[in-house]
Amino acid sequence: MSNILASQHPLVAHKLTRLRDKHTEPKKFRELVREIAALLAYEATADLAVVPRELETPLLAMTGVELKEKIGLVPILRAGLGMVEGIWELMPTAEVWHIGLYRDEKTLRPVQYYNKLPVEPTVSVCLILDPMLATGGSAVATTDILKRWGVKKIKFVGIIGAPEGIAAMQKAHPDVPIFLAAIDDHLNERGYIVPGLGDAGDRQFGTG
Ligand code: PRP
Ligand code: URA
Repeated sequence: MSNILASQHPLVAHKLTRLRDKHTEPKKFRELVREIAALLAYEATADLAVVPRELETPLLAMTGVELKEKIGLVPILRAGLGMVEGIWELMPTAEVWHIGLYRDEKTLRPVQYYNKLPVEPTVSVCLILDPMLATGGSAVATTDILKRWGVKKIKFVGIIGAPEGIAAMQKAHPDVPIFLAAIDDHLNERGYIVPGLGDAGDRQFGTG
């Protein structure tokens, strides 16, 4: 598989194990989602462009750098919301644009219910945030929306991906790199990732 990075970082693996555990309660679950998202964002932003910036330290004038591009964080509602805060702390000037999608339980196809993107794009790089890449329908639909909006550089940051969802994204959007904490085995008959972690939205918001 090309264009995909499944983190090998021990901290990510440790936190993911606690996230998967069915005994992990929503407060801890949210904390883990936030922390894993920040660790993955560190890897996903390694190639961001920078420009020189002059400054003076207390000792000397020197040239440093600052981020060149305007970054957009795009959580897919609901479950992607929990990934925003940890990443936003690392890049407080990022804009956050929400996309509302839910999966139809029968067809497993994404249904859009929220999109308030302005006509013209306001960012040049977007990180799509969603913990679960299952059939890939939600990720593909969100990438479609962002490309139509005019964003040229898009990355998907998730926590667990199924081979089916990764294949769907790579077929529809081979130019979009995928950053995950783990690639799991398969989808079950209800479209859930196995072994996975269950329903990421319900476990964050205590609605399961
Ligand atoms: C979950 C998850 C993804 C989607 C993944 O959302 O957060 O958005 O399913 O599945 P897919 O790859 O097959 O599209 P869900 O529809 O459960 O909505 P929620 O986040 O509001 O709970
Ligand atoms: N959405 C989830 O929250 N979990 C899955 O395993 C698949 C889709």
